[in-house]
Amino acid sequence: MDAGKRVLLIITGGIAAYKALDVIRRGRERGLQFRVILTKGGAEFVTPLSVASLSGSRVYSELFSLTDEAEMGHIRLVREADLVLVAPATADIIAKMAHGRADDLASTALLANDRPVLIAPSMNVVMWNHPAVQANVATLRARGVHVVGPGAGDLACGEVGDGRLADPLDIVAAALGLLTPGPLTGLKALVTSGPTYEAIDPVRFIGNRSSGKQGHAIAAALAAAGAHTTLITGPTALPDPAGCHVHHIESAAEMLAQTLDHLPVDIAVAAAAVSDWRPAAEAAQKMKKQEGGSPPQITLTTNPDILATIAAPGPQRPRLVIGFAAETEKVVEYATLKRQKKQCDWILANDVSAETGAFGGADNKVHLITATGPEEWPRLSKTELAQRLVARIAAQFKKASE
Ligand code: C5P
Repeated sequence: MDAGKRVLLIITGGIAAYKALDVIRRGRERGLQFRVILTKGGAEFVTPLSVASLSGSRVYSELFSLTDEAEMGHIRLVREADLVLVAPATADIIAKMAHGRADDLASTALLANDRPVLIAPSMNVVMWNHPAVQANVATLRARGVHVVGPGAGDLACGEVGDGRLADPLDIVAAALGLLTPGPLTGLKALVTSGPTYEAIDPVRFIGNRSSGKQGHAIAAALAAAGAHTTLITGPTALPDPAGCHVHHIESAAEMLAQTLDHLPVDIAVAAAAVSDWRPAAEAAQKMKKQEGGSPPQITLTTNPDILATIAAPGPQRPRLVIGFAAETEKVVEYATLKRQKKQCDWILANDVSAETGAFGGADNKVHLITATGPEEWPRLSKTELAQRLVARIAAQFKKASE
């Protein structure tokens, strides 16, 4: 089969399984090639014969079948795929994937898989909204699993709401999007985003107002461009961006530890608003208010500089390290100095003086500072800025490979 087009389709046992036949038909029309695993539940809804006729390939279903394993072992089934698509994905297969279970061919193949995975959930609305299912889907998303749908509408069970399998054409479009290499395919990226919380005691912390919007937008844009993207984020109100491996942390120390854990990468973008200081000691118990007494004195200590740590010369240094600088005066001058001090390659310098109204807003007005000097960018939304930055990163890597 042609590389870049091979889909291992796993059909699990939902009422929408019959629509998987349409996914195969529409996908083949667009050049996709299918191998299919039909679970026992899936075979209750569609026959192996109809799947085989439409896909033009034999259908695999048994983990311990001599013929299946002799002809095509479960490891080879996934190794020879460019994408694994689970459609429809029932609550059961989602739970198995989230918990690493391997008790049939489909779940075993998924566990042995290192290819991108796209799931198209389909189930009753109450099941879909159940915290257990939502937690499992969140776990999968955090591991970089892509999710298409479900949509809202009339469900086969007679109820109405979220849970309908995405339209087969949308499923095929999502699969094609993942199979088309982007300008950063094959590269690894790491992004820090959001604020950090530095604990004073078990209930209090020192934090800041960073929304994480810019960092999350950059992570999403890197993933959309094909980079294997890890996002390490402090507490924000934002959903995890699609296609990223997300790690939630609270303190600067945790952010640094996670960051070091994920090196080496090709590209690092430090967009987090890391707290400069933390309480020197975290009180083990909630600090008590003393009636008539004086307020406690909190001694601060300096946090590690994550950007400077990543950018320091060494074997683990990413090929491109990008930092941010928020300045209220002499923006380009101070940011140029910061670029040198922190030894990063590029700095996005942001004028956050009160007149600009940039702080916390939806837009950003930056100067990109590189080794060749500053470049003024127009005012852009945070999403547009992320896309422009990623286009710039892609151009840089293209130039380097020429
Ligand atoms: O020194 P300053 O905080 O102004 O530098 C901003 C840049 O450094 C941002 O890219 C921010 O993410 C990064 N930074 C960091 N660790 C710190 C402080 C800042 O990664 N402790």
